[in-house]
Amino acid sequence: MSQQLTFNDRFAKNFVPESLLKDYLSKSKKAMETLLSKTGAGKEYLGWVDLPSQIHSDELLKIRDAAEMIQKTSQFLVVVGIGGSYLGARAIIEALSSPFQLLEPSKKGVTILYAGHHLDSDYHSRLLAFLENKDFSVNVVSKSGTTTEPAIAFRLLLSLLERKYGKEGVKNRVFSTTDREKGALKKLSDEYGFQTFTIPDDVGGRYSFLTPVGLLPIAAAGFSINKLVEGARNMESDLKENQSPENNIACRYASYRNALYSLGKKTEVLVSYHPSLGFTMEWWKQLFGESEGKGGKGIFPASVQFTTDLHSMGQYLQDGERNIFETVIQIDSAKTDVYLTEKSDDRDGLNYLAGKKLSDVTKQAILGTLVAHNDGKVPCLELNIPMISEEILGQLLYFFEFTCGISGYMLGVNPFDQPGVEDYKNNMFALLGKKGYEERQKQILAHIK
Ligand code: PA5
Repeated sequence: MSQQLTFNDRFAKNFVPESLLKDYLSKSKKAMETLLSKTGAGKEYLGWVDLPSQIHSDELLKIRDAAEMIQKTSQFLVVVGIGGSYLGARAIIEALSSPFQLLEPSKKGVTILYAGHHLDSDYHSRLLAFLENKDFSVNVVSKSGTTTEPAIAFRLLLSLLERKYGKEGVKNRVFSTTDREKGALKKLSDEYGFQTFTIPDDVGGRYSFLTPVGLLPIAAAGFSINKLVEGARNMESDLKENQSPENNIACRYASYRNALYSLGKKTEVLVSYHPSLGFTMEWWKQLFGESEGKGGKGIFPASVQFTTDLHSMGQYLQDGERNIFETVIQIDSAKTDVYLTEKSDDRDGLNYLAGKKLSDVTKQAILGTLVAHNDGKVPCLELNIPMISEEILGQLLYFFEFTCGISGYMLGVNPFDQPGVEDYKNNMFALLGKKGYEERQKQILAHIK
């Protein structure tokens, strides 16, 4: 089956002169050639481009075996990671899970909890207290193996595991996902004898959802990683086969983004009408923000959850500064629908909706908002997916990655590095008194005097 995601520009094309779009489409073709020939900036991090078609079935089997072991021994799996080392897994797990998953025991897999994605003391102390009398395993994920937030969380969780299960027991409950050979996490994992999964050298964090970084937690949560990979594979072959930018949805999306940016639309707001896609939007923000925001350039990626945020951000979007465009994700069919029935008294005045499904109401809300925002001079791009499933999410996330590579090259940046992320870390290390940061500490203290 080929990929099923569609891109629609009916609410954006009036904002972009035809000749400008043509120009950007031809730039997108060059950018795609650079991406596929692996000749551009950051070419050493392009392993993700062929990942769907090249994942080995043995790797998937090893991941599924580990997931089964976690399911046998644990009620909870704590995924410890930050940024690209947890957002892909969380995006997919939350999109596929019941919003009430934490209130009912998971039937299909273990319930996934997260740690090490911030430094909040209350969160981590409550997590440790919660886990005290629960059976749990940990999947610690860090490519560098040295990131402070997950390292701290892991140290805390490992102590609890050791206390509960002893040094031997811990071996069957910790799964580490890290570099082949570098970093403190790799060393520690080898010393303890944890089962270890490797993040390929040529895949960066935010492009890693199809490596064990994403696949192990997703499989442990009870979802099909084979279907996820299959969906991404369909998108991969579709995008690679359609070399004409007019017919290639990634080229079209990347061209609109860059054309709109050149017209002063500096912020892209990703819109979803489905709360389950909340972490897909968080993942998307990291993907585009960290890939494109450099050298004083880049569209600012923001997100809103409609119709909820129409009652908070709606005013700004309709009528505030006109430097934004929207990309609206729409889902054709709901997994489960709710029907509105007729009531004899009609006290709430909703009988005009009787016989309609809630998803029909959503569709009209989407259309009404698109027209309103267009009237308010906001260009709106649309992405349609048939439903939420492993396969469709595989398509969607791979599509965003591919678009991001093209779009970053069109912007003239290296979409695969993140030099700006180091600055806060260096200052934090200096302020915490880490060895080797004495000079920086002096500079900071002079700066804040
Ligand atoms: O996308 C990225 O490269 C980052 O978000 C990293 O994944 C994040 O900073 C965590 O790094 P690490 O996996 O080395 O702990």
